[in-house]
Amino acid sequence: MTAEYKVLGEIAVITMTNPPVNGLGFSTRVGITDGLSKANNDPAVKAIVITGAGKAFSGGADIKEFGTSKALQEPNLLSVILALEASPKPIVAAIHSVVMGGGLELALGCHYRVVAPGTSVALPEVKLGLLPGAGGTQRLPRVLGVETALNMIVSGEPVKSELLASAPGQKLFDKLAASAESLFDEAVEFAKSVAGKSPAELPLVRNLPCKHPQGDAYFQFAKNMVTGMSKNYPAPLKCLEAVRAATTMKFNDGMAEERRLFTQLMLSPESSALRHLFMAERAASKIPDVAEDTPQRAIKSVGVIGAGTMGGGISMNFLNAGIPVKILEMKQEALDRGVATIKKNYEAQVKKGKLKQDKYDQRMALLSTTLSYDDLKDCDLIIEAVFEELGVKEAVFKELDRVAKPGAILASNTSTLDVDKIAAFTKRPQDVVGMHFFSPANVMKLLEVVRGKETAKDVLATVMAIGKKIKKTSVVSGVCDGFIGNRMIEQYSRQAGFLLDEGATPQQVDKAIEKFGFAMGPFRMGDLAGNDIGWAIRKRRATERADMKYSRTADKLCELGRFGQKTGAGWYDYQAGKRDAIPSQVVLDLIEQHRKDEGITPRKISDEEIVQRLVYALVNEGAHILEDGIASKAGDIDMVYLTGYGFPIFRGGPMHYASQAGLYNVAETMRRFAKNPRDDGKFWEPAALIQKLVAEGKSFS
Ligand code: 3HC
Ligand code: NAI
Repeated sequence: MTAEYKVLGEIAVITMTNPPVNGLGFSTRVGITDGLSKANNDPAVKAIVITGAGKAFSGGADIKEFGTSKALQEPNLLSVILALEASPKPIVAAIHSVVMGGGLELALGCHYRVVAPGTSVALPEVKLGLLPGAGGTQRLPRVLGVETALNMIVSGEPVKSELLASAPGQKLFDKLAASAESLFDEAVEFAKSVAGKSPAELPLVRNLPCKHPQGDAYFQFAKNMVTGMSKNYPAPLKCLEAVRAATTMKFNDGMAEERRLFTQLMLSPESSALRHLFMAERAASKIPDVAEDTPQRAIKSVGVIGAGTMGGGISMNFLNAGIPVKILEMKQEALDRGVATIKKNYEAQVKKGKLKQDKYDQRMALLSTTLSYDDLKDCDLIIEAVFEELGVKEAVFKELDRVAKPGAILASNTSTLDVDKIAAFTKRPQDVVGMHFFSPANVMKLLEVVRGKETAKDVLATVMAIGKKIKKTSVVSGVCDGFIGNRMIEQYSRQAGFLLDEGATPQQVDKAIEKFGFAMGPFRMGDLAGNDIGWAIRKRRATERADMKYSRTADKLCELGRFGQKTGAGWYDYQAGKRDAIPSQVVLDLIEQHRKDEGITPRKISDEEIVQRLVYALVNEGAHILEDGIASKAGDIDMVYLTGYGFPIFRGGPMHYASQAGLYNVAETMRRFAKNPRDDGKFWEPAALIQKLVAEGKSFS
């Protein structure tokens, strides 16, 4: 059992003890009901305090139990809350740190609530594609009013306890403790003060009225707002329906309605995707062969080499986290340009009210520049972001090896080059690692941490921790061309090219995949990033891989100088100063001529085929990446695509999506594509891992 029971005089104390956040799993639920019956059967006990050990009162239902029989095993959460309500002895919840989801619902089933200041209070189920399913939609409006409760339920955002406790008319908290330290004693005192009450005198939230003065009109207004905000996600509107039921139905009927809607959501693909995202994000921070208690190196100052597009954004991440940064460049003009861009970015945030002036001043004060490597001798972490040429990287890493202090971590932001080769330019390959940021580096969440064959475990542990500190989602990748993300995108782009050859237009491909949910289709994305970048990579790869098969349309486009938005023309035309992609006759003619050159008769291609070829190309390459040990788990690949490549969140990433579609179906579709003479049949042979999982009746998850 993960709840403890003790008696202090006339007060029984039930303490949830299920680290890390007292998730309300089966053993905790049993512990609570067990403690409750002990307390109610002990004549010496006059009142009960329930609290949580460690860093939370409770983070809610145990997410790890979802989808298993344990989640519903009696006593389930609803039964526990009913048991609390039915207790003839007063129950006081002593709430601190975090009270979320089922944890808050549990507290709402208690007779009284004493809370510590600074506690994060939330019903965040909507972020998992769910609604509060243990009475939260019925009880919270009764204690906070319909509007405040609905806002909290639909947004899932935490609110600080002192704010809620001071809201006029609120009945959520009976007492705000003076401090977190005094909470327990104050809750026990409170329990003593109500110890004499008879069962009939004990207040129950379910008995409070629940109405909104504007009734239907308010809910219509709220529905319009929520509909606008929740494209592709069913949960927010169902939250609204459930709260509305609280105002129109009797309590028990409202509870039944909440359960009905909760069950629908639990079975929805969107919730499955969001729950996968929650778990995969946390799992990504764990490296199978690096123990969680691996000692870390202290990172108190950072050096950045190169003040270009990436160097500036990378620096901002550390400045934002309060870590001093020294940028090195070859020329003063380059430094001045880089610093001016950083300033401009921060000033724009100040103008928009997103950054306070004093914070801006603090951040800029942490920034310094140099033209001399010797000035980097005290840096704990040095990140290189110079031109993508091995010779340039060699010169930089030799200099770093000369000046960096022993134990300093030397990182490269290379997007394609071999991190092992870069490490070999130094006499300390164990200290070298890839830190592959995505552009704009101060905005994009993804950080691919590239593990060289000699990278030390404490270097990895340190980089993962610093990634968390600068609020990145860090995913470990092995060394290969393109690492996880760009290695997969190559296959996606190749399919996009073949689709043009076979009969699709850039706008049809973009529209189909954007309808699937991608932020941007491959051709609009190419125009934004610059088609010349892919062109340079293809030229390099062509020298390394003679058998590389791809559509030459992209090269022909670049031969016309159509590099994208920056040249005013790419796969689309652009009007000066505007970003709207206008279909281009030049491009359509180029594609048509290319088909003629290749002797291809175009055919009509369905949107379904477009989506499957693009997404399953990611899946098959993702499976090879797992086979090769470049990624250690499928969830890591999903995190890369969700946080770095605009894969629709509600679909949970390519590997999760394939698992949901059924790997047997995915493999059969790949085999069908393999028969297409214009496509790359060799690529479409389902990866051995997929074949194995199909044979075993398993999925990636
Ligand atoms: N159940 C099980 N484990 C949970 C959990 C939960 N509800 N919430 C967090 N955890 C685990 C995480 O998986 C992680 O585990 P790990 O150390 O093994 O990776 C650990 O707690 C710490 O989590 P974070 O890294 O997120 O730690 P933070 O301190 O940054 O945040 C938190 C803590 C605010 C509680 C955050 O984890 C959070 O927001 N959790 C989600 C809470 C939630 O969604 N609750 C609703 C659950 S659904 C529900 O209650 C249904 C009910 O209505 C019927
Ligand atoms: P950039 O051309 O904008 O900036 C490079 C900067 O490095 C320039 O300011 C240049 O003056 C400086 N530089 C070159 N050689 C130097 C040296 N020897 N010493 C000091 N400074 C030197 O290039 P960008 O886009 O910032 O790329 C940098 C690195 O980041 C490359 O390895 C690139 O592959 C990688 N990358 C780029 C991404 C992008 O979207 N631009 C995304 C992820 C990684």
